[in-house]
Amino acid sequence: MARVIGILSGKGGVGKTTTVANLGTALASHYKKKVIIVDCNITTSHLSLYLGMYYSPVTLNQVLTGKASINEAIYDYHVPGLRVIPASLSLKDLRGVDVSRMSKVLKKLSGEADIVLLDGAPGMGREAMSTMRSSDEVLFISTPFVPSTMDIIKSHQVALEMGTKPIGIMLNMVGKERYELSVEEVEQLSELEVVSSVPMDKNVLRSLALKTPVVLFDQASPASRAFYELAGKLIGEKYIPDNFFTRLAKMFGFGKKK
Ligand SMILES: Nc1ncnc2c1ncn2[C@@H]1O[C@H](COP(=O)(O)OP(=O)(O)OP(=O)(O)O)[C@@H](O)[C@H]1O
Ligand SMILES: [Mg+2]
Repeated sequence: MARVIGILSGKGGVGKTTTVANLGTALASHYKKKVIIVDCNITTSHLSLYLGMYYSPVTLNQVLTGKASINEAIYDYHVPGLRVIPASLSLKDLRGVDVSRMSKVLKKLSGEADIVLLDGAPGMGREAMSTMRSSDEVLFISTPFVPSTMDIIKSHQVALEMGTKPIGIMLNMVGKERYELSVEEVEQLSELEVVSSVPMDKNVLRSLALKTPVVLFDQASPASRAFYELAGKLIGEKYIPDNFFTRLAKMFGFGKKK
């Protein structure tokens, strides 16, 4: 049975798609999990753009209009173990999309992966709420500022009402500025645990320009390290960075998790 984790935020532009692309890649490449990442942000879909997938004949849109099955919309990414369900980039494919079908169609992925990550739309509109309803657990993304943290409070309440288990908050684009909220302040305000702080890192933007997740572009960059650690935390494993010795051990089958 796959764990379905919704990646959601109240405020837009805080890093949901970046997180889905990087956690998905880290879970598949480093932790050897079978992962499917799904673009549930139908109206402003970006996930395929972040991965350089510009042509997908069947997308979640066709599935939600009843024209295709979910299995027809799954694509292999070049990282073994990672597959992607994109949403359409075309305006005309929004016609007839029924987001209330999302939870039913995504349930069919249950036997297909260990982990399914859903890239949500921001806010509390129908798309975001359908994503929340389709998730077993939700990871909230926020920046260390009052507006995005306040928006999480509402989304958290909705999650509890829907029975979706909150994992906590990933604080993103964290700097060292005194005007930023501290982890303790965010936790006090939101009544949620901050499970990770991902730093503001120019490598994330560089990797976006190359349409490659930062965890592949530069494994040792500060944001990559935080994504690898968070991916491990989600599945209860400690992150041990790849080096010559760990690669050698893997080659000979040592240290493999059963
Ligand atoms: N840790 C980071 N450091 C620097 N830039 C970042 C970081 N995380 C995300 N970004 C950049 O911030 C921008 C917004 O990120 P992203 O698209 O992932 O947000 P989003 O929450 O998915 O947005 P939307 O609500 O529109 O779907 C992107 O340009 C991304 O590259
Ligand atoms: Mg997004």
